[in-house]
Amino acid sequence: MGAPRLHGVRAIVTGASRGVGRAVAEAFVAEGAHVVGTAREAGRLDAFLRAARGPGDPPSGVVLDLADPGGVAAAARAAILALGRVDVLVNNAGMLGSRVPLEDVPPGELEAVVAANLVGTLRFTQAILPAMGHGGAIVNVSSGAAGRAGWAGYGVTKAAMDAATRMLREELADRGIRCVAVNPGGTRTAMRAAAYPHEDPATVPHPRGVVPPFVAIAEGADPGWHVEAREWTG
Ligand SMILES: NC(=O)c1ccc[n+]([C@@H]2O[C@H](COP(=O)([O-])OP(=O)(O)OC[C@H]3O[C@@H](n4cnc5c(N)ncnc54)[C@H](OP(=O)(O)O)[C@@H]3O)[C@@H](O)[C@H]2O)c1
Repeated sequence: MGAPRLHGVRAIVTGASRGVGRAVAEAFVAEGAHVVGTAREAGRLDAFLRAARGPGDPPSGVVLDLADPGGVAAAARAAILALGRVDVLVNNAGMLGSRVPLEDVPPGELEAVVAANLVGTLRFTQAILPAMGHGGAIVNVSSGAAGRAGWAGYGVTKAAMDAATRMLREELADRGIRCVAVNPGGTRTAMRAAAYPHEDPATVPHPRGVVPPFVAIAEGADPGWHVEAREWTG
């Protein structure tokens, strides 16, 4: 193995307890980054914290529920305390909700999905930004379901976060902070299984397959505002 690519990089990965977030967080640790991973309950991070191995500082866990406004600020403070400074924020955590037309979203669900995927994610980003100096990156995990019929609040929030990524990219350009939306594409996770209950999970790629653009961006690449992980060749 070559020299660690993320030596000295301090990164937060939300939703590191499983799926895409865990794979990205483990890859960052393996490349030497100091990583804070988040989940809604501390115990859910045990497997990540046990499995992650790398040449840098051992990773830490922080409890973050994006749907809890008070908790978001407290989690940001804890993450900043653990890292000292933040170079890379990966806004990966999110919830799916029902796959139905907007007309049929159950009461309360639109509010919950928007609170977590959009408002909570943006409030967490705001709270982390003062700890990001010049340079670094914010990576928002996008989806092909952004703005797509039948994907209810999830589709709305992913489209809104794509717009927020473009806005942040322009607003933070003079600080050298690269803002990129990465769409992992269909990936073998709990969320994918909930969205496609009749699919054989063995036919869907493992989350480890989507990490290359995340590592490259954390290392300094700037591929533009949006990346399809499956098409990444960099
Ligand atoms: N899998 C796919 O095919 C696919 C395709 C396109 C995009 N994506 C995107 O990839 C990202 C990760 O998805 P995944 O498939 O890995 O999903 P997943 O397996 O369901 O994992 C979701 C992660 O988000 C966390 N989370 C959920 N709700 C939260 C909340 N309210 N506050 C804080 N954390 C919360 C979960 O933590 P807990 O342990 O607390 O539950 C978990 O770590 C999402 O942004 C998703 O939209 C996935």
